[in-house]
Order: sequence, then structure tokens, then C-alpha cells
Amino acid sequence: MVPAKILDRTEWAPGLWSFRLEGELDNYVAGRFANLGLEIDGEIVKRSYSLGSPPGVPLEFYIVRVEGGVLTPRLHDLGAGDEVLLSPRASGFFTLDEVPDARDLWMVATGTGIAPYLAMLRTGAGLDRFERIVVVHGVRQLADLGYRDELEAMAAAGTITYVPACTREEGARVLHGRIPDRIADGMLEERAQAQLSPADSHVMLCGNPGMIDGTVSALKEREMSKHRRRRPGHISFEKYW
Ligand SMILES: Cc1cc2nc3c(=O)[nH]c(=O)nc-3n(C[C@H](O)[C@H](O)[C@H](O)COP(=O)(O)OP(=O)(O)OC[C@H]3O[C@@H](n4cnc5c(N)ncnc54)[C@H](O)[C@@H]3O)c2cc1C
Ligand SMILES: NC(=O)c1ccc[n+]([C@@H]2O[C@H](COP(=O)([O-])OP(=O)(O)OC[C@H]3O[C@@H](n4cnc5c(N)ncnc54)[C@H](OP(=O)(O)O)[C@@H]3O)[C@@H](O)[C@H]2O)c1
Repeated sequence: MVPAKILDRTEWAPGLWSFRLEGELDNYVAGRFANLGLEIDGEIVKRSYSLGSPPGVPLEFYIVRVEGGVLTPRLHDLGAGDEVLLSPRASGFFTLDEVPDARDLWMVATGTGIAPYLAMLRTGAGLDRFERIVVVHGVRQLADLGYRDELEAMAAAGTITYVPACTREEGARVLHGRIPDRIADGMLEERAQAQLSPADSHVMLCGNPGMIDGTVSALKEREMSKHRRRRPGHISFEKYW
């Protein structure tokens, strides 16, 4: 781990923030994660964090403060000019080159799980093989829809279809409820104006492990299965815990 300086920081909602770090990562492609750490009581505590930035610019992370967590309450206290420890390399397989060909790509996230998709969309590489990209972002409260303006701008430009979803508040143009439930009742597809099917769709899932398990179950009802290198399927995922 090497020290990396925080360049700037945005608080999207209380306890939900992003910061950009000075530094470089070996082996970085959009979708991968790095480890961030701090020395706490004489020991280095490190956790994995997806990057939201494309290669070649300051490293952007989008993080939520987990109450009672060891690292995030301390990371949350840091600001511009402070240093964190950064792994020298990026890791992971949640990348577009691991996704098989499909007509439609669905990028489904809860909370800070939107970060790897931002990196992919900001990078742009490897997206033109999909006819449509649907970005679904599920959060508890409307204020947790981080990067909404940027995603809406991409939607206005025709790059993506953007479906914000919220469970604990209702909002204009925001789907209400949990993602697996809105797949099961067809409301997500209606909002996206796209169908989920084994013939035409590949679904990436990132964030809350309960959302991922529930969505995999809902997609199994559509004859869609987990993708593995040796047994190709329709669903790729990155569980955050
Ligand atoms: C590949 C990968 C990428 C990740 N990328 C991100 C990212 O971009 N942004 C981000 O905020 N987190 C991300 N995480 C989660 C992150 O690594 C930590 O688990 C999280 O920040 C909590 O760390 P902590 O030390 O504060 O809590 P800990 O003391 O490690 O954990 C306390 C408990 O909280 C639970 N927990 C962990 N994360 C969450 C969460 N987000 N919400 C609710 N409960 C949780 C777990 O059950 C854990 O046992 C990622 C995890 C993985 C595996
Ligand atoms: N502003 C913030 O986001 C914020 C700020 C400070 C601290 N925190 C803490 O950070 C942690 C993570 O919070 P978060 O809001 O980012 O993420 P989260 O708890 O994973 O919630 C994100 C979305 O996932 C949904 N979800 C949860 N479990 C699901 C399941 N089994 N199946 C389908 N959908 C499911 C939630 O719906 P439900 O609403 O139905 O659960 C919510 O819409 C929590 O400990 C929270 O207290 C969050």
C-alpha cells in the first residue's frame, strides 16, 4: 500500500461521498477495484472499492459510511489534502471484456454499486457492441441517487436508458420499490421500454448481496442463468459484502 493524497471530495448525501485521489494503479480497466486502507491502532485496515473513473485521470471512489464499520467512518472524516493508503494494482473480473455478446446490456446497481458502471460509461470502450444499455440504480432515498445529473445527461444524449429506482421515497420519473420485485411484476421493463430475455439480454449486477440474490432468482424465472467462463450465461455480478 502506498500513500495517496485526496484531491477533492463531494458529499452527495450525509454519509455518502466520493473523493478523487492522486496516484496511479497498475492493471486498471473500467470495472475493477482497488484497496484503500488506513493505519488504525497500529494495523493497516484495508477494504476493496470499485473505481468510478476512467483510466488516466485521478482515481475516483464512491463510498458509503457503514455505521459500526471499521474503515468507512474513518475514511468519511478525511478531506482534501489528507492521505489514504492505496494498493498499487487494480483487481477484479467485473469488466466488459468478461461480458459475452448480447443485444442489450443491463447495468443494475444498488447504492455505491453504480461506480463500476460509471467507469465503463465514462471510458466508453467496448460499449458499441451493444444496441442498448439500460442503467438501473436502486437506492433507499432520492438524495442517494448519486451521479444522477451525469447519467441523465448520458440518457439525453442517447447513450443509455437510465432508470432510477427508490424504495423509501417516491419521486417523479423514479421507479418505486426493490429491483427484484419490479422485475417480477414487469414494471422495470415497462419503464426501460426493453425486455429481459435470454435471447437478447446480459445483466450485470453490483452492490447489495440481497439485491443480487433476489435479482438472480427473478431472472431465473425468465430462463436466465449466471455467466461463467466455462458455462456461458446471462448474469454477471459483483457482491460488495
Ligand atoms: C469488489 C468490491 C468492491 C467494493 N466497492 C465498494 C465501493 O465502490 N463503494 C463502497 O462503499 N463499498 C464498496 N465495497 C464494500 C467495502 O469493501 C467495505 O466492505 C465497506 O466499505 C465496509 O467497510 P467497513 O470497514 O466500514 O465495514 P466492516 O467493518 O468491514 O463491515 C461491517 C459489516 O457491514 C456490512 N457491509 C459492508 N459493506 C456494506 C455496505 N455498503 N452497506 C451495508 N453493509 C455493509 C458487512 O456485512 C460487514 O460485515 C466493495 C466490496 C467489494 C468486495
Ligand atoms: N445516504 C446513504 O445512502 C447512507 C448514508 C449513511 C449511511 N448509510 C449506511 O450505508 C449502508 C448501505 O446503505 P445503502 O442505502 O447505500 O445501501 P443498501 O442498504 O444496500 O440499499 C440500497 C437499495 O437496495 C435495496 N435492498 C436492500 N436489500 C435488498 C434485497 N435483499 N433485495 C433487493 N433490494 C434490496 C434497498 O431497499 P430497502 O430500502 O427496501 O432496504 C435500497 O433500495 C447502510 O448501513 C446504511 O445505513 C447510507
